[in-house]
This record gives sequence, C-alpha cells and structure tokens, in this order.
Amino acid sequence: MLSKQNLSAPLFETFTLGNMTLSNRIVMAPMTRNQSPGGVPTEDVAAYYKSRAVGGVGLIITEGTYIDHLGANGYPGVPAFYGEQALAGWKRVVEEVHAAGGKIAPQLWHVGRERRPGVEPDTSVPGFGPMSIVEDGVEVVRAMSEDDMHEVAASFARAASDAKRIGFDGIELHGAHGYLIDQFLWAESNQRTDTFGGSAENRLRFPRMIVSAVREAVGPEFPIMFRFSQWKLSDYDAMIAETPDALGEILKPLADDGVDIFHASTRRVWEPGFEGSDKTLATWTRELTGKPVIAVGSVGLDKTFRTGHFTRTEDPTSKSRVNVEELAMWRARDDFDLIAIGRALLSDPQWANKVRDGRLDELSDFDSSALDILVR
Ligand SMILES: Cc1cc2nc3c(=O)[nH]c(=O)nc-3n(C[C@H](O)[C@H](O)[C@H](O)COP(=O)(O)O)c2cc1C
Repeated sequence: MLSKQNLSAPLFETFTLGNMTLSNRIVMAPMTRNQSPGGVPTEDVAAYYKSRAVGGVGLIITEGTYIDHLGANGYPGVPAFYGEQALAGWKRVVEEVHAAGGKIAPQLWHVGRERRPGVEPDTSVPGFGPMSIVEDGVEVVRAMSEDDMHEVAASFARAASDAKRIGFDGIELHGAHGYLIDQFLWAESNQRTDTFGGSAENRLRFPRMIVSAVREAVGPEFPIMFRFSQWKLSDYDAMIAETPDALGEILKPLADDGVDIFHASTRRVWEPGFEGSDKTLATWTRELTGKPVIAVGSVGLDKTFRTGHFTRTEDPTSKSRVNVEELAMWRARDDFDLIAIGRALLSDPQWANKVRDGRLDELSDFDSSALDILVR
C-alpha cells in the first residue's frame, strides 16, 4: 500500500518556467497584510515570507504591492514597489526567502477605480479607472486618458524590471478581483466608447499594452504570471467571459504578448468553470492557452469564505472537500501545474513540509482569527 507521503508525490515534482525552477508545485497565494507602514516592507514582512519558504513552499507570490503610479494604491499599509526604501525592504525579503531555499515573485498591483481620495501615499489623488465615477458631486475616479494608460503600462514595466534587478524570480500581474486590469476586461466596468472599450478586443487593448511593456522590460526568460478571475470582491458572479471561447479570446492574446503562466483565481478549486462541463477554470485555461496554470481556492480548509473585503466571515453553507490525495491525483492527471494555498498557509507555515512528509494529522486548522494578525 502506498504511504501518505507517496500519495502526495505529484505535488512535489520540480517545475520549470523560463529561468525559474521550483522544487515543488505548492505556491503561496498573494495575501494583502496592510502591515507595511509608509509603503515600506519591514523586517517582520521578511520574516513572514521566510517562514513559508522554510515551511517548504515552492513559490511565494507576495501580497499585492503597488506600482509607481499616483493612483495605484487603494488601502493603508500596503507595500509600495518603488522608491529606494521600499525596494530595499523587498530586497531583504528576497534574500531571506532565497536563503531558506524558496523562490518569490511580487504581485504587481494597480487598484484602478477602487481607490478614493484620502488614501496614501498622496491623499489628494483620486482613483483612475476605465470610466469616471462621481460621488456627491465630486469626481472620485477619473476616466483614464490614453496618456494615463501609457504611463501605467510603463509603470508596471519599471516595477517588473526592478523586481528582476533586486533578485525576484518572476512577477505576477494582478488582473483579477475587480482591480484595474480586470475593470478594463469586464464589459460592465468598461463602457468606454473609444478603442479601449466596447468590443472584447477593445477591452483587452490596455491589458495587452501592459503585458507587452512588461515583457519588453524583462526579456524573454523572466517569468510573467497573470492572475485573472471570474468574480470580483463586489460581485461573486461577475464573469469577464461567459463561455470558454470568450475566455480563450482574452487569454490567448495575453499569452502571445508574453504571459508564461495563468493564475486562475477561484474561490473553490473543484467547481466547474462553465456550465455544461465538469472542467474547472484551471483546466479550461490550460486547454485554451496551451500555457501552464496555477489553480487555487479553499484547499486545506474546513470551510470556504465570504469576502466583502476578504473579511473574517466563514461561509456556513460550504465545506471544502479538497484533501491532499485528491489534490495530488488532479495534479497527476494534469488538471493544473501549480496549486496556490492561501489561508491554510496563514495558520500553518509548515503546511507544505507536513504534506510532503505525510504528517497530515499535524496540519493546523485554519482559524479565521489568523486573519486578524496574519500570523507568522
Ligand atoms: C487576507 C487575504 C488577503 C488577500 N489578498 C489578496 C491580494 O493581495 N491579491 C490577490 O490576488 N488575492 C488576494 N487574496 C485572495 C487569495 O490570494 C486567494 O485567492 C484566496 O484566499 C483563496 O485561496 P484560499 O482558499 O487557499 O485562501 C487574499 C485573500 C485573503 C484571505
């Protein structure tokens, strides 16, 4: 009979993407911590990521970190990805993770229309989105001009090039959950009448501009990941593509422009991506693009979660039914290439090592109080 350790073996095969080789298939999902005062990642941030590398995670994707565009940030305490101090903080994070044998990529973030005046770093700056938003007679989000789009694409490219320079192993573009890139992709948040709105092809134009600029900045071998979702924080049912074909029309051009791997963000990894087939969003993504894929969603948890803004409220109606053996089987039949783990890794930094060694009875259960402190 196979031991539990052998059963998890498909999750512990190496994986190569461009010039990055991972020791296994376990990825730490990006999770915002709001614990970088003034946008600078502290030693605590380095220790937090290091402990997951020590715990055996193959690749860490950092919390969203905002690029050097005035309107990129939406929340207090989020780390910046520009400026001497913030980049020095990030370099220390990279060094600690590498010293522990891990790999790490920053998640580059622009929140788009989610920003409101009053938020750091410059509180006078409004949000920037596909369309203007006026609240109580005040324009709180400005409709981006074509010049704004070029600036933001250049800013993503600078961040990617800085990531490479300070030793990161790749980058992830945050194209999910209702933030800037996703706002352009979604028909409802992008009703522009110029060449950046309207048809699916037009809505894709700005995201393509970003991917092309980033690829040009980092060269051919540096891995670019692209996270997308069929849900938003404000609306769990908001889809950027109603059919697999429509999804292919979004993802294939992005792959042509330089995306190496897609990160299909779902809340429950086992659910079908579209009606009429059991295939998950990750499996569809792999099939439609021919690119590898990162799957994610409620692995290793007793319960799934309700967000709001990733609130601490667990969803009483659903239980995660993913166990390690199932996960390894899906990996073995190529349903996904990498699996991202979010909250289970907050509660248990040693999650990957315990799974590798078959010490499943030692896994710490996720407890929503972990979100209150985002524990080490
Ligand atoms: C506290 C918290 C913060 C998050 N922040 C981000 C983020 O910055 N960027 C992102 O793409 N997803 C973010 N997410 C979503 C996670 O990356 C992940 O997709 C989600 O938690 C589902 O995975 P899990 O069920 O394994 O936790 C966050 C989730 C949580 C719980």
